[in-house]
Amino acid sequence: MKKIFVTRLIPDRGLALLKKQGYEVVVNPEDRVLRREELIMFLEGKNYDAVLCLLTDKIDKDIFAAAGSQVKIFANYAVGFDNIDLAAARERNVLITNTPDVLNETVAEHTFALMLAIAHRIAEADQFMRDGKYKGWGPMLLLGADVSHSTLGIVGLGRIGALVAKHAVKGFDMRVLYYDVKRNEDFEKEFNAEFRPNLDDLLHEADFVSIHVPLLPSTKHLMNADTLAKMKKTAYLINTSRGPVIDEHALEQALEKGIIGGAAIDVFENEPLMDLGFKNLDKIIVTPHIASATEETRQKMGEVAARNIIAALEGQTPPNLVVMK
Ligand code: GLV
Ligand code: GLV
Repeated sequence: MKKIFVTRLIPDRGLALLKKQGYEVVVNPEDRVLRREELIMFLEGKNYDAVLCLLTDKIDKDIFAAAGSQVKIFANYAVGFDNIDLAAARERNVLITNTPDVLNETVAEHTFALMLAIAHRIAEADQFMRDGKYKGWGPMLLLGADVSHSTLGIVGLGRIGALVAKHAVKGFDMRVLYYDVKRNEDFEKEFNAEFRPNLDDLLHEADFVSIHVPLLPSTKHLMNADTLAKMKKTAYLINTSRGPVIDEHALEQALEKGIIGGAAIDVFENEPLMDLGFKNLDKIIVTPHIASATEETRQKMGEVAARNIIAALEGQTPPNLVVMK
């Protein structure tokens, strides 16, 4: 019987697919991230055929070594896979897969939720009400900024970035600029979007800057003190990608000094921690890495991860391969 280790409980549909296949599914009994030594202990000598891991698990050569030579695949329950050492996977002949596409709409919605919330000062306004500060309607009370007809700068035109652009154009009549390592003329035509080969040019013009790049050595601290200073003073920065793409301390300073208008971010440099300075700033909205967190999407991510595992163990090519053997 093939055996699968799941590093933390996920919604049931993916697990059910694995069990239906006749596999033995062992789930970490604790509903928390396993420490590195614990993960090694759970894997060592157990000869699992596959591991379903999460973005909170750092998977490197020691983890692959602990899993042993029986293991064919580590299926990451995330679209991002910066938590996995791909070179080490290749060296050990382990397949790596991710869960793209099924979360695009949910993440794009969360991006808009953040954008609208920071522009309309929703979190501040909610706190204001709860604190009993509302004494009557006022023409100057909690004035925000319009999203409609403003300029959106998309940094990273992947599937999620493109969907955010579509909502921006179709829903809010925004002008869309994008920065990416490659140009996409079909996208430009469809959404009347404008390519900016230099990030700085996009930052100069955008009212909202939304980050959708993967975390890579080349995107770490893409937003830093210098690039933040290139943004308009009134502009907002939105991040639903990965925390280390923004130098968090530089962002705190930029907000503190009024270098940018505000920020709304779902991801942090050293999760689960965040820059403590954010706590005292009104100009930032923070959510705890929940951009893909709807019931349905988290179920679908489990099904995608399970299908990748089943394909690998039944001798087929997994649909969402990141690293080939
Ligand atoms: C979430 O952050 C993901 O990469 O799926
Ligand atoms: C990136 O997150 C993508 O799916 O394009």
